[in-house]
Amino acid sequence: MGRWKWIGLVVLVIVILRFVTNPPRFWLNLTKRVEPSAAVGERLVDKYGCRGCHRIGGVGALTGPDLDAVIARDRNVDPAHVTLRLWLRDPKKVRPNTPMPNFHLSDSEVEAIILYLESVAPK
Ligand code: HEC
Repeated sequence: MGRWKWIGLVVLVIVILRFVTNPPRFWLNLTKRVEPSAAVGERLVDKYGCRGCHRIGGVGALTGPDLDAVIARDRNVDPAHVTLRLWLRDPKKVRPNTPMPNFHLSDSEVEAIILYLESVAPK
């Protein structure tokens, strides 16, 4: 192969690797579409293992913040959950050195998880 073919191949591999490790939002929304409801949110919280680090509905570890308390705080300062949505889409965009992993959630997954968190947090 000529030099330009090699360069083209390397660029293609880099683009594919970027796509796989950090899929763009339109792709997440296409491939991980759910019907947002608290029941679906509950399944997603299990699937992604949120309770490995968070207490949710009184159950789970306290490595990370208690999400019942986060919801309670949001009800006062950010009832539309604007920051919560940004956080769930990509924690590092909100706090660059946060230890919380990016789960590459689709927008509808984020909505379902918020519905679930709201439904189990004490009123
Ligand atoms: C490996 C542990 C871990 C897992 C798994 C995890 N988180 Fe987190 N999460 C954290 C940590 C640690 C913080 C605190 C981040 C910081 O202060 O930088 C955090 C912060 C948060 C916050 C922001 C709290 C605030 O104070 O505003 C939300 C919301 C949240 N996590 C939701 C989730 C959800 C939903 C899941 C499952 C999809 C999840 N987390 C999975 C570790 C984790």
